[in-house]
Amino acid sequence: MSQSPTLLPGATIGIFGGGQLGRLTAMAARTMGYRIHVLDPDPGCPARFVVDQCVEAAWDDAREAARLARGCDVITLEIEQISLASMNAAGSFAPVRPSELMLGIIQDRIEQKNWLARNGFPVGPFRAVRSLDELREAITVLGGKCFCKSATGGYDGRGQGKVGFRNTSESPHSVPHSSQLHRDEWDRATNPDARHSEPQRSAGSESPYLPPSSHESVPHSSRASLRDEWDRTTTITEDELRGAWEALGQGPGIVEQAIELDREISILVARSPRGEVKVYPAAWNHHEDQILAWSVIPAPLPEALAKEARELASSIADTFSLEGILAVELFVTKDGRILVNELAPRPHNSYHASERACVTSQFEQLVRAVCNLPLGSPDVVQPCAIANLLGEVWLQPAEPQTTLPESPRTVPHSSRSDEWDRATTPTAVIPSEREARVEGPPHLPLSGHSSARHSEPQRSEGSESRYLPSSEVATAKPTPRAPHFDRALAVPGVRLHLYEKLRPRKGRKMGHLSAVGSTPEEAVELVLKAKSLL
Ligand SMILES: Nc1ncnc2c1ncn2[C@@H]1O[C@H](COP(=O)(O)OP(=O)(O)O)[C@@H](O)[C@H]1O
Ligand SMILES: [Mg+2]
Repeated sequence: MSQSPTLLPGATIGIFGGGQLGRLTAMAARTMGYRIHVLDPDPGCPARFVVDQCVEAAWDDAREAARLARGCDVITLEIEQISLASMNAAGSFAPVRPSELMLGIIQDRIEQKNWLARNGFPVGPFRAVRSLDELREAITVLGGKCFCKSATGGYDGRGQGKVGFRNTSESPHSVPHSSQLHRDEWDRATNPDARHSEPQRSAGSESPYLPPSSHESVPHSSRASLRDEWDRTTTITEDELRGAWEALGQGPGIVEQAIELDREISILVARSPRGEVKVYPAAWNHHEDQILAWSVIPAPLPEALAKEARELASSIADTFSLEGILAVELFVTKDGRILVNELAPRPHNSYHASERACVTSQFEQLVRAVCNLPLGSPDVVQPCAIANLLGEVWLQPAEPQTTLPESPRTVPHSSRSDEWDRATTPTAVIPSEREARVEGPPHLPLSGHSSARHSEPQRSEGSESRYLPSSEVATAKPTPRAPHFDRALAVPGVRLHLYEKLRPRKGRKMGHLSAVGSTPEEAVELVLKAKSLL
């Protein structure tokens, strides 16, 4: 048993990062009676409105990190970008959970992939690259269709380029692109007799997690012969190659073979300083354009596969001696293998549904873990799905009835026959155009405790816009519309979770909807139905 004391309510938790994950953690911590201080470069960060103190500082400002820690009993994080120097400086004043050592491995994709492979965890074929020539070599070795990812800083598909997908409408994996579940995918997911009941392993594996060999070393061919091979065989143009090099930031990165995915799942695992471990049931995650679109807990999976995934995640947490929570993103391949995609030592978008699906949410579990309290049960209470609300929901062209200046207005009665549509349509009030302009929430509460120096909080164009295409930055901003939250909220079982981000942008996570159902399928259908009504 560890010597770490238990931090009881009344103690102060510091969080590196005040984005939506920090905000939701802070809300759970406040419910339990903790005080919260966050550090974020943006004075208008989403957590700012719900915390006791917000320190405005850069991720690499070790002096401010130390100042934060001086006023806290424990420090955790919600973003991997925090510098190791800041982690280290904070560690002089309060325990930092997860550790600097663990973050150092995870925050660099090259280190992370090498660590996973070195420790015998299954990963897909990959190569580390540091130059355009190495990128060309890697793509040649890996066989054409690849994801090229910057070593640091990327998220939600940013800092990534794909090659080899040109001239094919084919996505790297067969997930539904529409808002509807594909029947066959669902059937495969839910059928216990499907092929996953006997997960196959590569022949001759000694370790259960023996990784494929192709990342281990470059074939014995020389660089010149690889270049010949490239010239002879590739269908990838030089433009495409350079595009990928730019997308990954023209610096160190990872090239991964595009995996033929059956589906994507994740497992959240919590571990406290006293060594207690809790593993959540798997979430099933559907991405569109490399961003999570929806997710459901529990993932409908054959038991053998679910067990394998949970054991794998638990083993990774143990190997790290995790203190805190860790999300393990997993690929399930078409031939029934599980590969680790990436790790996140913090709350994860795919476990937002745990707030309603599980006895203990991921946010409360993080608080319990870093405070060395007994961990809560991760058991499922009811299936719950979430659908992310990206900036597009606000930026898509307004329907005629929402743009007219008169206020209030009524929505014409819809001909839709579903129960919730009947409930919503007759006399819903739509705000006037002036109210509908989403310059900021109309009733923005400003925290009296906040140390933010800007009187008009705005999320800076810093971290979230680093990978925005220049065309997007340059284009004139359309006037945002007000989504029809009233319609969505009339769908049975649906709740709304907004992060108080002031400016909607393409690809920016502004909030999510959640829905509970009697089955995971019903929960997904309800949440997607609600989203379609926005
Ligand atoms: N090697 C790969 N093969 C197939 N799909 C991939 C691969 N790498 C990434 N993807 C797709 O892109 C998504 C985002 O990639 P990921 O590495 O998780 O980056 P991020 O940090 O942006 O989440 C994944 O969830 C998956 O849908
Ligand atoms: Mg990911």
